[in-house]
Amino acid sequence: MDRIVVTGGKRLQGTVHISGAKNAVLPIMAATLLADGTYNLDNVPVLKDVKTMASLLDSIGSDVQFENHSLLIKTGSSHNFEAPYDLVKTMRASIYVLGPLVSRFGYGKVSLPGGCAWGPRPVNLHIEGLKKLGAKVEIQNGYIVAKAKRLKGAKITLDIPSVGATGNILMAAVLAKGTTLIENAAKEPEITSLEMFLKKMGAEINGIGTERLEIEGVETLEAVDEAIISDRIESGTFLIAGHITGGDIRLEKTQPLFLSSIINKLRDTGAEIEEGPDWIHIKSNEQIHPIDVTTAVYPGFPTDMQAQWMVLMSIANGSSIITDNIFEDRFTHVAELKRLGANITLDHNVAVVKGVQYLSGAPVMSTDLRASASLILAGLIAKGKTHISRVYHIDRGYERIEEKLKLLGAEIYRDQEQLIV
Ligand code: EPZ
Repeated sequence: MDRIVVTGGKRLQGTVHISGAKNAVLPIMAATLLADGTYNLDNVPVLKDVKTMASLLDSIGSDVQFENHSLLIKTGSSHNFEAPYDLVKTMRASIYVLGPLVSRFGYGKVSLPGGCAWGPRPVNLHIEGLKKLGAKVEIQNGYIVAKAKRLKGAKITLDIPSVGATGNILMAAVLAKGTTLIENAAKEPEITSLEMFLKKMGAEINGIGTERLEIEGVETLEAVDEAIISDRIESGTFLIAGHITGGDIRLEKTQPLFLSSIINKLRDTGAEIEEGPDWIHIKSNEQIHPIDVTTAVYPGFPTDMQAQWMVLMSIANGSSIITDNIFEDRFTHVAELKRLGANITLDHNVAVVKGVQYLSGAPVMSTDLRASASLILAGLIAKGKTHISRVYHIDRGYERIEEKLKLLGAEIYRDQEQLIV
């Protein structure tokens, strides 16, 4: 199994190119089930999760070619309307095929995603939404089975502006008979880019980018091409890498507009940040002021940046409070950061971080995607070597992270973990 080894203390400098967004390309790939034809998707990140979604579409009957950063998807002979346990257990986002399958083919069977590293991840809002659109939905042997002759438009008010549920219900509603109203919908840029993609396919959607979506169902849609938006979480992670190492780096192929909550907070900590249409320049003067964050839905501070922020606060000159209101138990990284010498007290979904002079390298273990990013950031500043195991988590959401960091001057490499038998 791969591990990543980081030697701390290098000041990062130079330019890094940000990849396309994982959380934008996955629902767009699922949406290709909604119409036969050929789709060219560009600026696609080379990630494990993209390959998993490609295998899922292949198993359903699409022909998926992934070359460099482009996906060529030919949809036309869908014959198997199932997302099997073996795929769903590796990637929860597989559930995104449920809406398109039941809407287009009147039948979809998707393994019920279990919990994740940090706790239960219910999908009740997905199921309730499909039921409101007239689908008959049952749980059979660990699978969600949804059936419908043709879905019918309905009014759906989400209890929580869930990213996944908004995406799934939206993809179901575009081919439903009549009008669907989704209230309290998610506004994340990844959902807005899905709305834009569906509109390009011929869907009738009003309220794009807002929490109130009105969808007029259509008979058919058409295959189209698309370029995937940049990954705001990868951007945020590299901004922290630059700041935490006292560095001076420029991000290119990014979209600063999507990062305003993160950029504002970084400025509050003392970082100097300039922005352009598709670039961000961060310069750190090594002073890191303690700044509290509370995670929220977009445009608030993203939960996917919470672990990375905690590392920054672990060497700030004072104490800060980090609250996660989206995933209240998303703190599996705390124990590992404490192994590196961080001073963190956790009480339910609130962490108090007392800044320390320095962290010290040690062997640590990744538990999930963003937690592993935080361990790499910690390794960049820790004295000596940090050995990070189970890095398969990071390959799910960061493209060649160690190579990109090396280009910025980090001392980092990947090797095989020595298994002690
Ligand atoms: C998406 O997950 C992202 N994943 C997550 O990123 C991200 O953390 C999350 O949105 C929040 O921004 C993808 O886009 C593939 P939600 P999702 O439904 O859709 C509760 C990463 O690191 N909820 O918006 O699963 C849920 O428990 C990943 O890239 C229900 O109760 O998140 C949570 O508390 C991790 N019932 C809240 O809503 C439901 O049916 C938000 O979840 C659905 C959600």
